[in-house]
Amino acid sequence: MSNSSEAELTHMFRGILFTSRSSPELLKSLDAFDAREDDVLLVSYPKSGTHWLAGVITKLYDTQITVTSPIEFGDVSKLEELNKLSSKRIIPTHLDYNMLPPNFKNKKCKMIYLSRNPKDTAVSMYHYYRDNPHLPTIDSWTAFFDLFLKGNVVCGSWFDHFLSWEEHTDDKNILFLFYEDMKKDLPEVVKQIASFLSLNVSDKDIQDICKKSSFSAMKNDTEKENSDPSHTVCALTSNRKLIFRKGAVGDWKNHFTPKQNMRFEEIFKEKMKLSKM
Ligand code: A3P
Repeated sequence: MSNSSEAELTHMFRGILFTSRSSPELLKSLDAFDAREDDVLLVSYPKSGTHWLAGVITKLYDTQITVTSPIEFGDVSKLEELNKLSSKRIIPTHLDYNMLPPNFKNKKCKMIYLSRNPKDTAVSMYHYYRDNPHLPTIDSWTAFFDLFLKGNVVCGSWFDHFLSWEEHTDDKNILFLFYEDMKKDLPEVVKQIASFLSLNVSDKDIQDICKKSSFSAMKNDTEKENSDPSHTVCALTSNRKLIFRKGAVGDWKNHFTPKQNMRFEEIFKEKMKLSKM
């Protein structure tokens, strides 16, 4: 790919890198977005398990809902498109708290923030960059590691994203979840989500949802294309097949050198010193 077409893959908006799949006009117009009180937002930094969470949530409802593509994905016609939906909207986003349309905050819409160990997130994002034609070419893991730590990747710095949301842990309308907890005890997390969304589900339903949401079940569904292959909840691709890679905790150990790990830990400590978590 030539340098000029590489440069066209991304652009900077309010200090954060976006892909060209999020048009600057759409990003500018987000401030005017008209939220509905019953909207539910699925918020995450890329590669934190958003599709997994969306898969669980879709199965929890027995009423008509629409899981939209991410609010920041597309051009300026996006807001009109979302306005036209008559069913309840589940809206994914990778935006940091400061960029979120203010209407969602004023109307106290329910939001679920999913986070993942940033080391595993970095590794997952590295593979995603390598396999995704909508993202700039990456020469090596070492080069990507540097970009990630500097926040020079799409959606900006993991640390800034997390901290912008973490300030709101006491907000009653925001539920904080961790990928690692979903791996450890999915039924428990599903119960938490159901209670947060005021949904009645039996233990049998929960068992069923967890079975259908396992990594292998979701990967198989995508491979069989039972689910719409062009519908993703990530603003960086419309290819679902790029999503289900390993689905493991601790894959960072297969990528980080001891020196990289030390550097990561130092930066983590420094950046997260005000974090309560
Ligand atoms: P890996 O690249 O480490 O495998 P997102 O949906 O936010 O893009 O996140 C993608 C990551 O979540 C990928 O991580 C993917 O494998 C993992 N994932 C997706 N579905 C999963 C599931 N059902 N169980 C565990 N991990 C899952």
